[in-house]
Amino acid sequence: MIAKTAMFRIPALITVGCGAVETVGAEAKRLGGTRVFVVGDPNLQKLGVTEKILASLAAQGIESSLYTAVEFEPSVQRVEAAAAAAREFACDLVVGLGGGSTMDTAKAAALLARNPGSLEDYLGIGLAKQRSVPSILIPTTSGTGAEITPNALFYVPAVQEKRAVVSPFTIPDVAIIDPLLTLTVPPAVTAATGMDALSHAVEAYTSLNASPLTDLYALEAIRLIGTHLRTAVANGADVAARDGMARASMFAGVAIGNAGTNIVHALAYPLQGQHRITHGVANSLLLPYGMEFNALSNLQKFAAVAEALGEPIAGLSPRAAAAKSTETCRLLSLDVGIPQKMGEVGIKEEHIANLVDGAMKMTRLWANNPRQVRPEDARAIFERAL
Ligand SMILES: [Fe+2]
Repeated sequence: MIAKTAMFRIPALITVGCGAVETVGAEAKRLGGTRVFVVGDPNLQKLGVTEKILASLAAQGIESSLYTAVEFEPSVQRVEAAAAAAREFACDLVVGLGGGSTMDTAKAAALLARNPGSLEDYLGIGLAKQRSVPSILIPTTSGTGAEITPNALFYVPAVQEKRAVVSPFTIPDVAIIDPLLTLTVPPAVTAATGMDALSHAVEAYTSLNASPLTDLYALEAIRLIGTHLRTAVANGADVAARDGMARASMFAGVAIGNAGTNIVHALAYPLQGQHRITHGVANSLLLPYGMEFNALSNLQKFAAVAEALGEPIAGLSPRAAAAKSTETCRLLSLDVGIPQKMGEVGIKEEHIANLVDGAMKMTRLWANNPRQVRPEDARAIFERAL
């Protein structure tokens, strides 16, 4: 079969490697930055990482303003405050240093530095008219892939929903992936963000928008996660494991940036919006159940997921091999200590109706799902995951 036409967008420059963060000043200068708004995770300030960034910028004669009032899983209101500070500083470049919440805040600040109005005007697909000011994103966790993707997610308290800005203009100009920045991430965060990256890779690989290009990245991300996540959780100081997970997260980001997520993220968003469960845990809880439901759509691809995770599938029927993928993901999340059932994080039977309503609204994600999902299907999946 000839692959359908597919577009493929990634940052213009991706720098990967131990110590890569030291290139930030030179890259900012190359992009023409003279007044740089730095959005930094407050915890990194204590570790001296933020200092390094500011010093690298100062060494190039670049003025900077540091903003650290970043909220975890940020609300629209809090992000507006960051954007107002970026506008007030009259920045011509934004650097984001942190996990997904920080990078998403940086993306919004860069977008609103050049586009009029408020963040809510851009919640949706392709609503920004102009490119953001140039941006450099530097992840300090291995999971979201936000340093690669055109998406940024924000919590809207009025409707208790997480909503996305999706725009090619929010893809940064430069992504700097330095595994040394992830060495101090605690095991529980390593586990949850790693399972988020696995959800990205599996969903993108099996998405209706998957292409041969995204498959390359997705499958390699799955293989890297199967090889390195357990070690990264067991011993955060293991540089090889951190390096593997940093690459996995970036590869999975490339895959979702171009093929999108689907069932797992669609079901997980209401858990975050309605119950404030963190993104990684919500996705991890639903990953095996989403895969179990979707496996029917493409047994060969789900079998390849199992194989990429290190599970022997030789001699198995396609159906049995595909079923191994679900089992292997479940075992991985169990090994890295993530809750296995929604009941463990406070979800009850009476919450399911609202979760189904919330999940069914995620039409942009369902459009990528390889199996059609009716509300009664979503309900059955939530019940199995309870
Ligand atoms: Fe995610």
